[in-house]
Amino acid sequence: MLVSAKEMLTKAKAGKYAVGQFNINNLEWTKSILLTAQELNSPVILGVSEGAGKYMCGYKTIVGMVNGMLEELKITVPVALHLDHGSYDGALACIEAGFSSVMFDGSHYPIDENVAKTTELVKICNEKGISIEAEVGSIGGEEDGVVGAGECADPDECKMIADLGVTMLAAGIGNIHGKYPENWAGLSFETLDAVQQKTGDMPLVLHGGTGIPADMIQKAISLGVSKINVNTECQLAFQEATRKYIEAGKDLEGKGFDPRKLLAPGAEAIKATVKEKMELFGSVGKA
Ligand code: 13P
Repeated sequence: MLVSAKEMLTKAKAGKYAVGQFNINNLEWTKSILLTAQELNSPVILGVSEGAGKYMCGYKTIVGMVNGMLEELKITVPVALHLDHGSYDGALACIEAGFSSVMFDGSHYPIDENVAKTTELVKICNEKGISIEAEVGSIGGEEDGVVGAGECADPDECKMIADLGVTMLAAGIGNIHGKYPENWAGLSFETLDAVQQKTGDMPLVLHGGTGIPADMIQKAISLGVSKINVNTECQLAFQEATRKYIEAGKDLEGKGFDPRKLLAPGAEAIKATVKEKMELFGSVGKA
């Protein structure tokens, strides 16, 4: 059964580790993440962007697929199904479809509008026992066509949004989605420290988990980050493994063109990436 992310994140914040959010794009991706979480006895959050939601035939299809897998694969670790960077309408649609967690990304609105919309969604989520993530200060890079510059959030605005009763808060600290440019300045631990001091026990979320050096990840966790999002790294691993399979001519041997064979190396590569991240985030054995 899908669960809200609240309990797993409260435990992670208290235990000084982070739960990974891994974005899903198809059946193979989802299966690889769930099997790895079960094998490592780790809680996990499956992230779905609005674009990936459309690609996978809508939120109801995804809820059906994930619930089916939890049962058929006998997954017993805590799993939350979470809308990533949702719009207001997207969040409502996911709540209706059976997601157990949503993110409302109001970071591009003026703060008053972000507060108003987040307040409404917090009320609905609380009534249904669904966890909700809010964002202050846009995360850099491009995601589903939305481009942000990698701002550092204002700690007072973070407190204002945290006080609305959200479950977790994503604060921009110079992080960027996708690959980091050569001249990236690194995470602003000064901002993170100030945000954590203002927001206390609130689990903080680090987006753009791909390509952040291990020591920065560990420092971010020590300063209150309890959820880390990873997407691009799984995409790169999947692409690389599939490319190697084709370049080796395996798809030309026997029934190598069988989609089950063609997608298998990518699925294994995702398992390896998820395992590496769960070990780095410290969530292994914490289910
Ligand atoms: P990356 O694609 O950089 O791993 O970021 C993922 C993310 O933050 C999803 O919200």
